[in-house]
Amino acid sequence: MKKLSLALAFACAGTMAFSSAFAATYKVGTHPTFAPFEFVDEKGTPTGFDVDLINSILKSQGDEVEIVSMPFDGLIPALLTGQIDAIISGMTITDERKKRVDFSTGYYNSTLSAVVRSADSEKYKTSDALKGQKICAQIGTTGAAFAEKLSPGNVVNLNNEPDAMLELKNGGCEALINDRPVNLFYMKQAGGADFAELLDEALTSNPDLYGIAVKKGNEELLNKINKGLEDIKASGELNTVHEKWFGVKAN
Ligand code: ARG
Repeated sequence: MKKLSLALAFACAGTMAFSSAFAATYKVGTHPTFAPFEFVDEKGTPTGFDVDLINSILKSQGDEVEIVSMPFDGLIPALLTGQIDAIISGMTITDERKKRVDFSTGYYNSTLSAVVRSADSEKYKTSDALKGQKICAQIGTTGAAFAEKLSPGNVVNLNNEPDAMLELKNGGCEALINDRPVNLFYMKQAGGADFAELLDEALTSNPDLYGIAVKKGNEELLNKINKGLEDIKASGELNTVHEKWFGVKAN
């Protein structure tokens, strides 16, 4: 019995030494329905700015990434239960979330915007005009929280942006509130005629700084991610990735 546990102890010590000296593969969760940050290509493979970013960051530290897809509101629970090691999903750093997870340095500055049906663009010129109206949002997002404050009890929660756009188009809600770059991407994809953007101070002054989340206290991985982010900024790789997805360099 003693011999066995001793052997086990050696085996464990062996793997620990192995994983710190050699490349680790980190499982990174994302909800790929949020283009251009994360979406799936024709083959169903997750792609986008966030996917490239986390690969660049961890590869710069000699490690590997395995992307794991799951619904947005399941990401933090999956991190807490150890199913994944990190989250990259256009996730805004909020005080609420900071109670549950640790965030990296912010990597992308975003704001919210609203999408309305083109025919209603005169009717809804400010977010205040949406008070008491049904508003579509992606479940668990900062857009959904904003919508709930604006029009309490009237939020129609959808799983993803394409579903929310369809719901809006079909009259299931009067507006859709989500992150502006994502709204713009899907509006462009929809061809432009059906939807119009509603933008006002209340929406744009809502800062959405995206961060990469790790389990509370996982300093080893958090330090790697922050260091990787610095390294790819310095090497110019961040600019290359940013330009690939947004057409301009990161500022
Ligand atoms: N930035 C918003 C938030 O953190 C929306 C993120 C949604 N991301 C996604 N991949 N579906 O709540």
